[in-house]
Amino acid sequence: MNLDIPELSLIALVGISGSGKSTFARQYFKPTEVLSSDAFRAMVADDENDQSASKDAFEALHHVAAIRLRAGRRVVVDATNVQQHARAELVKLAREHDVLPVAIVLDTPEPVAWDRTQARPDRTFGRQVLRRQQQDLRRALRQLGREGFRKVHIVTAPDDVTITYEKAWN
Ligand code: CTP
Ligand code: MG
Repeated sequence: MNLDIPELSLIALVGISGSGKSTFARQYFKPTEVLSSDAFRAMVADDENDQSASKDAFEALHHVAAIRLRAGRRVVVDATNVQQHARAELVKLAREHDVLPVAIVLDTPEPVAWDRTQARPDRTFGRQVLRRQQQDLRRALRQLGREGFRKVHIVTAPDDVTITYEKAWN
């Protein structure tokens, strides 16, 4: 599957926990292009799982994203982005910096994500959390086309992806 992405864009990864966002980001983007909510939670609160740090973490993440976009550098946001308000902030940020927002959805079946989550020592939440994220994702898949993203790519085979960067804006 080929993903065409504008040369300068803000790329929102979208997917439930365990869907493979961080793995995908490592596989296809430079480490410095990727801003991960986990890394920012760790940065501001010493704990990537501390959900009470999310507000501060996203404030810092958005700040760094803005600085990169201002300098003409690509930004990949590695966060679940299953909630509409999270995506809306990213679309707004992209618009403020005249770059195109793109969504890449990791549409991994919830049972697969759950099996992976259980195998991870760094994830301790229960299945209800994942089910809720999956409900949010289903809603997101219906709405994404209307949220202002220039492109919405739905990925079901993440190992079989090539990315083509387009210079043109149309
Ligand atoms: N994984 C896998 N096969 C894939 C993708 C991921 O086995 N195709 C494994 C990873 O090695 C990891 C787990 O599944 O142990 C979760 O993948 P990750 O990329 O970390 O998922 P995220 O979507 O980033 O999860 P989170 O939102 O919790 O950060
Ligand atoms: Mg991750």
